[in-house]
Amino acid sequence: MTPEEFRRCGHAVVDWIADYQSRVESFPVLSRLKPGQIRASLPADPPAQGEPFEALLKDVEQLILPGVTHWQSPNFFAYFPCNASGPGILGDLVSSGLGVQGMLWSTSPACTELETHVMDWLVGMLGLPDKFLLSNTGGGVIQDTASSAALCALLAARERTNGYTSNKKGCNGKLVAYASTQTHSSLEKATMIAGIGVENLRLIEVDEKFAMKPESLARQIEMDRRAGLTPCFVCATIGTTSSNAMDPVGAMGEVCKKNDLWLHVDAAMSGTAMLCSEFRHLQSGVEAADSYNFNPHKWMFTNFDCNCFWIADRKALIQTLSILPEYLRNQATESGAVIDYRDWHIQLGRRFRSLKLWFVIRHYGIEGLQYHIREHVRLAQQFAEWVRKDDRFELAAPAPLNLVCFRHKAGDATNQGIMERLNRSGDMFLTHTKLNGKLTLRMSIGQTNTQARHVERAWKRIREEGNRGEAGK
Ligand SMILES: Cc1ncc(COP(=O)(O)O)c(C=O)c1O
Repeated sequence: MTPEEFRRCGHAVVDWIADYQSRVESFPVLSRLKPGQIRASLPADPPAQGEPFEALLKDVEQLILPGVTHWQSPNFFAYFPCNASGPGILGDLVSSGLGVQGMLWSTSPACTELETHVMDWLVGMLGLPDKFLLSNTGGGVIQDTASSAALCALLAARERTNGYTSNKKGCNGKLVAYASTQTHSSLEKATMIAGIGVENLRLIEVDEKFAMKPESLARQIEMDRRAGLTPCFVCATIGTTSSNAMDPVGAMGEVCKKNDLWLHVDAAMSGTAMLCSEFRHLQSGVEAADSYNFNPHKWMFTNFDCNCFWIADRKALIQTLSILPEYLRNQATESGAVIDYRDWHIQLGRRFRSLKLWFVIRHYGIEGLQYHIREHVRLAQQFAEWVRKDDRFELAAPAPLNLVCFRHKAGDATNQGIMERLNRSGDMFLTHTKLNGKLTLRMSIGQTNTQARHVERAWKRIREEGNRGEAGK
């Protein structure tokens, strides 16, 4: 494809995406296809000869689009959001256009330095402690996901605790990690991969708000020590996946400090709210964190994948993950004057992800980002108020930000029915969790283009399906 052909086809693609954005509300939010339908519609064999670009775009429209669940629909209220935005898409496109692989500073200085710079900006933007700045002992790196960030934090904690010997000799089965019963499953996976073992992950009980009980954490650590085990790592979550519960970071930090344990803070979705100072009380005590991460790819309008991970002591991370084979040796690395981000995560190669984040931050500005976050929180609080006022429904958990967990009082079958009918209708998409053993609906408000009218219609549709559920009883 010559640059001239690329220009022509590229314009067609951008036009197609812009058209998609303007008609996204016309599609059923959740794809209606049955398993295997997409594959059955595709040719069995790849083409022997190249095809005209128009044929590709036509197939995206006709074959692919019906199998898409529209995460970018403003009527998407499922899971947590996974936002895209114009500037995010275009930043990603520039990154693809440059096609840089930024494993070392020397393989593209801009890839490393823009990332460091944007990560330093975000420390101030989110009210995080100065120790996370590169000018201090720490630093930030963009990872693919919160799962990878948690794994890196756990590995560094493991090495720091074991005097950097587990990398050489393997684990001894004695290290113990702590999280709450509500912590994301990625932590369980991290303990599997890090050789800690799932049986050495203690899931600490939570209070009535689904937040970890720090006194239970302290008790469990004490019991493990007495049993001859070695506690090493604690994960606090700011905004759990199930119900957006807020662990008491400050109190957990005290326990970690007393026991010399690594504190990792997972703010995957809710971290974005820290752009607004009025929500920062939810991360009070974050100064105690050894590592922290949040996903701009969830709520900060930056296309998947983009996880921001900070570490207070970068030496611990680098000593854990650094390997320097001969073929990667270079003068800049030897000088010690540069960052080689390959030492900050699992994989070697890396994309120029900071471009899309830079585009997003510059396009919206801090005030623009704050405006959208506050609006989403306002809409969620409005929704929670409607639920409170309708005596057929109830709130199932506190709603500190933009997730509302609620249920129809008639029980699990009714809630299941409401959810299935809504999702089948295509009008909206919402998902569920279980809280205190009861099926609970989750209204997650954070898609880039969700406005009051979408939330109003969602509540109308939920009530309609609630009435239908009651009539069918
Ligand atoms: C609190 C929390 N942590 C971690 C994750 C995992 O995110 P990722 O897909 O970036 O690994 C999620 C995903 O929803 C989450 O809500």
